[in-house]
Amino acid sequence: MNLRINSFEQYQHDYRKSISNPALFWDEIASEFQWKKKWTNTLNWNFEEPKIEWFKDGKLNITENLLDRHLEKNGNKIAFHWEANNPGKKSKSITYQELYQEVCKLSNGLKSLGVQKGDRICIYMPMIIESVVAILACARIGAVHSIIFAGFSSNALADRINDAQAKIILTSDGLNRADKKVDLKEMVDSALESCSSVEHVIVFDCIHSQPNMLKDRDIDYHELIKNQSAHCEAEEMDAEDMLFILYTSGSTGKPKGVVHTCAGYMVYVAYSFQNVFQYEENDIFWCTADIGWITGHSYTVYGPLLSGATSVLFEGVPTYPDAGRFWQIIDKFKVTQFYTAPTAIRSLMTFDERLIEKQDLSSLKLIGSVGEPINEEAWNWFFQKIGKSNCPLIDTWWQTETGGVMLSGLGGLSPMKPTYAGLPLPGINPTLLDAEGNEITSPNTEGYLCIKTPWPSMIRTTFGDHERCKLTYFSHFKGYYFTGDGAKRDENGMYRIIGRVDDVINVSGHRFGTAEIEDAINKNKYATESAVVGYPHAIKGQGIYAYVVVNTEMEDESKIIRSIIESVNQHIGKIAKPDKIQIVKGLPKTRSGKIMRRILRKIAEGESTNFGDTSTLLDPSLLDDIIEGAK
Ligand code: PRX
Repeated sequence: MNLRINSFEQYQHDYRKSISNPALFWDEIASEFQWKKKWTNTLNWNFEEPKIEWFKDGKLNITENLLDRHLEKNGNKIAFHWEANNPGKKSKSITYQELYQEVCKLSNGLKSLGVQKGDRICIYMPMIIESVVAILACARIGAVHSIIFAGFSSNALADRINDAQAKIILTSDGLNRADKKVDLKEMVDSALESCSSVEHVIVFDCIHSQPNMLKDRDIDYHELIKNQSAHCEAEEMDAEDMLFILYTSGSTGKPKGVVHTCAGYMVYVAYSFQNVFQYEENDIFWCTADIGWITGHSYTVYGPLLSGATSVLFEGVPTYPDAGRFWQIIDKFKVTQFYTAPTAIRSLMTFDERLIEKQDLSSLKLIGSVGEPINEEAWNWFFQKIGKSNCPLIDTWWQTETGGVMLSGLGGLSPMKPTYAGLPLPGINPTLLDAEGNEITSPNTEGYLCIKTPWPSMIRTTFGDHERCKLTYFSHFKGYYFTGDGAKRDENGMYRIIGRVDDVINVSGHRFGTAEIEDAINKNKYATESAVVGYPHAIKGQGIYAYVVVNTEMEDESKIIRSIIESVNQHIGKIAKPDKIQIVKGLPKTRSGKIMRRILRKIAEGESTNFGDTSTLLDPSLLDDIIEGAK
């Protein structure tokens, strides 16, 4: 299945075709896949409800497209090279044939536990091959996977399990991260104290910690699969059946379950993978994203496998045992496409360059960035030091909700411009709106980034709450999908993302709602109320700044701060740890009680005057205190 565009002229031609006749365009691409029954209608949609249906009545199973169809010609091809956290541990490789067998065994194991099509299964696992097996086993039998990043705490896990009403949890005893071991089973046990939907926990032995196993509920992964057949018929799925739920943060406190469906996701993820990365048959692809995020779903797992690619799966972190780990892995596996996040680049830039020079990076053909805006300095460093100034650098803009890359150069074919994500992919119809909802036509003018028409892998709903989906994405500007990002477009149509325009902050490429962090802080015994804002951070892109009003006169502020950090760890996870916590007497509010975040953002950025209009402030004297405390 070759879906690749080969020249910029072809891109322009295909782009025009995709916009003037999307149904015809996607019909041809979808025909390249293996269907159990062909669709009757390519696209039905309206953005009012919203209702989006692609490939109506089509029947398929995505795992037949990413496993079975490769077996005859490419069964012995490596699907993944797995690299352990610890470089002293032997790496492992798995072929498509072996992956197929492992997936079928686990599929049969899940069926033996009574799992049926449509049941939800939470996956809370490390970056190991068995996590990929777990994902695909769900898809094979039509269970809906909901992967929860293994850095989330037990409370965050419980919230997501309960929202999805998951029947099964797939986890491991623990995981290896740098020089530490993290206990995952303990997190699951504690989460399950408040989750009644879960019938079984399947535990993979990753760190040999011999966790407590609860009789009748907990099952050892190997025990479950050991006598299962290595063949399992793939469930017939409707094109619009749910493939997975992935929770992500928004403006309100509660994370929402973004729903993606089988056919549209499959078609767009494979198409975008092959084009953005200009994938060729013998490439070795490496996307460093954890499977717990959308990038891991689409470009660590689904996109490469649908294309029959060989990828690297890395258990560890970029700086262990030293900051040369990424470069060493590129050299070891002769990686051709390397896709990572600006936060990793900014962090690795600060280390001795000899760590790079020690390794041979000449296998690289393309490098890519995702997750947050990449600043010019990081762009140039990545391009020059890693890409040696002769690899195209693609800056890919997209979201959990979009399923796949939306704005990006097609590696090597399209123009590149530092800090610009670039042009839309074929099938993607973006626009910029002003505050009144008028389309901005003049170049270099900032606006709200919206999408005018549907694309196959777009969000269908938010699990269990369709109204929320409508309100969040389709109500700000009638008739448009609203991304939540601000952007501008140059005279050549290339887009530059400015950042979020809502109360979402992007910390090291991880997305948090400020309300979600405030909720966690407010649960602390000392906290009366809080306001969280983002501020520019040299490595993380944005840091978390929390202003907290406390109910005690305690002398030792550091004790309160430690306790607040502990609350955030407990309710969300260490990944959301505030970088700065400032205890304040009160929060600046309007007379109607609304917190003036605009001012708090400015103070967090180091501003001490120039707050614009402060006439609506209820108690202006608070500001001096806050400014003083921020110093
Ligand atoms: O603000 C944008 C930023 O990340 C948000 C989406 O986050 P998430 O759903 O976690 O998905 C991240 C990985 C696809 C967007 O609304 N973002 C993502 N990619 C870029 C970006 N900002 C600037 N440039 C990018 N390339």
